[in-house]
Amino acid sequence: MININRLREMKQNGEKIAMLTCYEASFAAMMNRAGVDMLLIGDSLGMTVQGHTSTLPVSNDDMAYHTACVARGNSQAMIVADLPFGAYQQSKEQAFAAASQLIAAGAHMVKLEGGAVMAPTVRFLQERAIPVCAHIGLTPQYVNIFGGYKVQGRGDAAAAVYNDAMAHQEAGAAMILMECVPSQLAKRITDNVSCPTIGIGAGLDCDGQVLVMHDILGIFPGKTAKFVKNFMEGQPNIQAAFEAYVREVKNKTFPAEEYQFLA
Ligand code: KIV
Repeated sequence: MININRLREMKQNGEKIAMLTCYEASFAAMMNRAGVDMLLIGDSLGMTVQGHTSTLPVSNDDMAYHTACVARGNSQAMIVADLPFGAYQQSKEQAFAAASQLIAAGAHMVKLEGGAVMAPTVRFLQERAIPVCAHIGLTPQYVNIFGGYKVQGRGDAAAAVYNDAMAHQEAGAAMILMECVPSQLAKRITDNVSCPTIGIGAGLDCDGQVLVMHDILGIFPGKTAKFVKNFMEGQPNIQAAFEAYVREVKNKTFPAEEYQFLA
């Protein structure tokens, strides 16, 4: 069973962490067999499962339901569940109530979006027995602030993303996830934080990678991002596609340059 100590050990040994989104029991069991280290019940389920155009309508009850489904199918991966929009931004107490619902449903860690402004919440949860993954860079819950899903941290904006990572490390974040940031910035952050980092569109030097399951299987009907690779191509079935993903993350062939953003 993967736990937080094993993740830290993997960072220290330079062993890459393979993470995928997962929303239900059968896929959780398949991902276990493929050697996926971490299963993320992402609020991306709002788009992939529920058919919304953003993650914003997802509720904490939705997240708890899918977390419980994944937990029932899982035997060895570490489970991370997203705190959805509106469930944690209002107060630290609100965040604890939502996070503890997800832990009770079977999550081992929760993920929240936001930069340094969320660091006090990370500290509050962490001090009350809830490990937190801080999601920085492109944070899809901020889509209406960003005006779309755009690369973050280019040029002068790099300093703000770097400072967000440092604030989360200082607050005791168990993990930092960086989405759509230049590879050079993600490397600098990874080299300077003690917790493991996970990248999605953040280059090869993060301690691990995550992708959305529907994207790697090529079944999401919408537009896919530059950082997405379809792992079904050349594979006979879904199980083999999951195995190919794990292999390419572990042997550092994914993400190749074509899936990265530069400063
Ligand atoms: O919700 C999600 O699937 C995520 C990933 C894109 C990292 O947060």
